[in-house]
Amino acid sequence: MIIAIDGPAGAGKSTVAKILAQRLSFLYIDTGSMYRALTLKVLENNIPINDESQIVQLAHKVKIDLRNNPDGPLAVILDGEDVSLAIRAPRITKFVSDVAKIKEVRQVLVKLQRELGQRGDCVLDGRDIGTVVFPQAQKKFFIDASANTRTQRRFKELKGLGQEIAQDDVALDLANRDKIDSTREASPLRQAEDAIYIDTTDLSISEVVDCMLERILKNG
Ligand code: DC
Repeated sequence: MIIAIDGPAGAGKSTVAKILAQRLSFLYIDTGSMYRALTLKVLENNIPINDESQIVQLAHKVKIDLRNNPDGPLAVILDGEDVSLAIRAPRITKFVSDVAKIKEVRQVLVKLQRELGQRGDCVLDGRDIGTVVFPQAQKKFFIDASANTRTQRRFKELKGLGQEIAQDDVALDLANRDKIDSTREASPLRQAEDAIYIDTTDLSISEVVDCMLERILKNG
C-alpha cells in the first residue's frame, strides 16, 4: 500500500508521516530529503545554482539512498555518507527549491522514489507524490496549516536542531519556497483531486495522526 502526503513547507508532513509509518510498520520515504541531498552535492561541488546542465549531470551521477532504522530517524545516504543532519543546514534550505524546480532533476529523483516505493508498503511525503510520483496511491492526503502556524512550527524545529535563526527569516524562507514550489512548471505543489485535505492549524500531532489513521483503515 502506498500512502501519499503532500503539502507546503512546515505544515507538519514529515512529523505525521514518520509516526504513521511507525504505527503501520510501513517504510517512510522523505522525498524532500532527496532534493536536499542533491543540493548539498551541488554546493559542495561549487556548481552555480543557475547552472542547470551541470546540476542535471550531477543528478545522474550521485547515489542517494534512504535507510529506515527501526529505532531511530531515517538516514539519508549520499554517495555512501550519512548526510541526514547536513541536509538540514540553512544554506541547503535556501537553495533546494531552485534545484527541485529543474525538470530533468525531478525525472531522475522521481524514478528513484518509485524504485524505493517498490520496497514494500510505504508512506511518502513531498509536493508531488499524489499527483505525479504515485498517482495510483491508495490513500492521499494534503496537509496544510496557516502561514503563521507553519512559521512557528518550523522555527521551533530549527531551534531544536540548534540553529540560530530569526522568526522573520523563517517566515520569508517558507514564503519564498512555497512560491517557487507552487509556481514552477515541472510538477508544481498541488493537491491531487482525490486527496483528503487536512488543515492542521488548530490540531495537535496526535489529532492529525488519528484522523489520518481513521481514513486509512476505513475502506481497507
Ligand atoms: O519537505 P522539504 O522542506 O524537506 O523539501 C525541500 C524542498 O524540496 C522543497 O522546498 C521542495 C522540494 N520538494 C519537491 O519539489 N518535491 C518533493 N516531492 C519533495 C520536496
